Amino acid sequence: MAFDIDMIKKVYSNMAERVDAARDIVGKPLTLSEKILYSHLWDGTPNKAFTRGKDYVDFAPDRVACQDATAQMALLQFMQAGKTKVGVPTTVHCDHLIQAKNGATTDLQHAINTSNEVFNFLESVSNKYGIGFWKPGAGIIHQVVLENYAFPGGMMIGTDSHTVNAGGLGMVAIGVGGADAVDVMAGMAWELKFPKLIGVRLTGKLSGWTAPKDVILKVAGIVSAKGGTGAIVEYFGPGATAMSCTGKGTICNMGAEIGATTSTFGYDESMERYLRSTDRADVADAANQVKEYLTGDAEVYANPEDYFDQVIDINLSELGPLLNGPFTPDLSTEVGSAMGEKAKANDWPIKVEWGLIGSCTNSSYEDLSRASSVAQQAIDKGVKMKSELGINPGSEQVRFTADRDGILQIFEGLGAKIFTNACGPCIGQWARYDDPKNAPKNSIVHSFNRNFAKRADGNPNTHAFVASPELTAAIALAGRLDFNPMTDALINENGEEVMLDEPTGWELPPKGFEVKDNGYLAPMADGSGVQVTVASDSERLQLLTPFEPIGNDISGAKLLIKAFGKCTTDHISMAGPWLRFRGHLDNISNNCLIGAVNAYGKKTNFVKNQLTGDFGGVPDTARAYKTAGIKSIVVGDHNYGEGSSREHAAMEPRHLGVVAVIVKSFARIHETNLKKQGMLGLTFANESDYDLIQEDDTFNFLDLNEFAPGKQLTIEIVHADGNKDTIKVNHTYNQSQIDWYNEGSALNLIKKENAA
Ligand code: F3S
Repeated sequence: MAFDIDMIKKVYSNMAERVDAARDIVGKPLTLSEKILYSHLWDGTPNKAFTRGKDYVDFAPDRVACQDATAQMALLQFMQAGKTKVGVPTTVHCDHLIQAKNGATTDLQHAINTSNEVFNFLESVSNKYGIGFWKPGAGIIHQVVLENYAFPGGMMIGTDSHTVNAGGLGMVAIGVGGADAVDVMAGMAWELKFPKLIGVRLTGKLSGWTAPKDVILKVAGIVSAKGGTGAIVEYFGPGATAMSCTGKGTICNMGAEIGATTSTFGYDESMERYLRSTDRADVADAANQVKEYLTGDAEVYANPEDYFDQVIDINLSELGPLLNGPFTPDLSTEVGSAMGEKAKANDWPIKVEWGLIGSCTNSSYEDLSRASSVAQQAIDKGVKMKSELGINPGSEQVRFTADRDGILQIFEGLGAKIFTNACGPCIGQWARYDDPKNAPKNSIVHSFNRNFAKRADGNPNTHAFVASPELTAAIALAGRLDFNPMTDALINENGEEVMLDEPTGWELPPKGFEVKDNGYLAPMADGSGVQVTVASDSERLQLLTPFEPIGNDISGAKLLIKAFGKCTTDHISMAGPWLRFRGHLDNISNNCLIGAVNAYGKKTNFVKNQLTGDFGGVPDTARAYKTAGIKSIVVGDHNYGEGSSREHAAMEPRHLGVVAVIVKSFARIHETNLKKQGMLGLTFANESDYDLIQEDDTFNFLDLNEFAPGKQLTIEIVHADGNKDTIKVNHTYNQSQIDWYNEGSALNLIKKENAA
């Protein structure tokens, strides 16, 4: 058995006392999010009320999950923490390092051939430290977590921003950097700013072509990519309880696309059905005994405006299918003519080359069955697929069951490729082109969550649109972006016009889930004898050397790059081919900020070396400053570091000698990651000071020796002509985070405390 029922029962046994105490202290009815947060305080029973959006609070999560790309660095760090076993149940999932090219069998073998060193490393570290290991091909982390580990009322963290998917089973599940995971694995508290709360009231009922995906595409369109920052989104209302558990997972999953800390739903019958069908009747029974604590208080949902910081209303009966994109997941457009007009006006290719179904967002049995009902109609009505179609099942359990039930065969009947149970095209692991940089402009539609440039196939000219799996199947059949399955006909092989009926499917497999080998390896009870080896000449893995503290004297620091516009973690530490270096800090640092647009010249990876006057790549320029003993500074725009939780986006600049990142605003996870690595993440007190920064600037920090919580810092900027500007910057460091800075990193502090 993979999950830990005793741990879950322990959480539930504390719940009543802690939630009741919190209700008394807060002095009003509680949302579900508050119940979960207050019942997971590091200090146990609550004795004070926290201010949302302000107080930093120590929590005790129940679980940790890591995917293979981020696990490498997390485990390399954990190995430095001086522990013999992980402090809370932890799992590692091999899903990111598997390319999609020819189909599951050959692609999986290719991944094993090319990444065996990494898989073996992860397996042996897992075995040594008591970590559950999910082999390559076992499935996508968030689908596997939903099927095996998520439980109502629980709290978990994961080293992937879509960890939030587990909110579909009523958890507070949060994506973090590897450094945060290391804290929790090492048995320490995990700190989070007490989130604000956004309530989404779902009325009406989904029907026809509208799917749970459209709910979150709609929410993203309403609140934008930054709208959920610092908040938990809690869904409630009759529309919520009427939806499947995996559909709820889809909605929570894409909460990451609005920047939300996480999203969640109250425990209901759909969750109970899902728990029982995934062989967890004992979890359902335990949850039923405390069910009033696993959902918000009735008064909260009756008058949500009094309890949430913001309330959004969506009537599911009025919602239609949406297509979001390209290049950003919050650009929402109704299917059909509205999309056609927008595509024409913006010169987006109307022809759709590929439809891709899968990813952690939409790869459940229900997703595959509904999409296959569209595919089956095409076969029955003699319609050929106009685009190519690729499918990534979410787990071996879903794949095995879908295969047994004939679902995969329906897709294959239309010429679809079934890829490995892995992320594949969702994370740039799609071997679509030999030379993606020079590949043609084209459109694709997928059921994934992210659609930033180059994300799927490395081609900056691929326009990726996000939709539900059933709409993806329909658009792939039509081969057109402006296809509306509700009003438009398809032409079959006989030249006749045929219409598609509404998709149908099964929430859960009618004959139950089945799997032969789910791909799980339990760790040894005593792993102390397990040897973990890293070859000194490995290009994939490198043992870490602790960072030296930066200190209070930052003077003469040079501008490395002033990033212009959107600068996500994909721009800072690109994925795709670079994934192979996730466990080797020096090698992966060669991708540092190469995707960021330099405000001067508007080119990527082309910045001025102030020492020579030459222009070159960002990593080379940073290395030149570092070699010369000169510190460097990165300047950025709004929501800097949005996207994934990868701490490489902080570790790489730190490794290359960057001491401070100064921006208009940060995405939460990235800001924390900078702090963990012992560097400065600062925001302009006056946003327009961004415009003062010039290409040849030098920075002197005037009062870093007075670094203290809530106190602005002062920076003198010396321009090439000798003129100076003095600016104020804000920070959100509390005292323990300042201690991380002073020690050189959070990990240095953990080690010191362990040794004491
Ligand atoms: Fe994997 Fe894409 Fe999800 S990379 S974890 S399938 S967002």
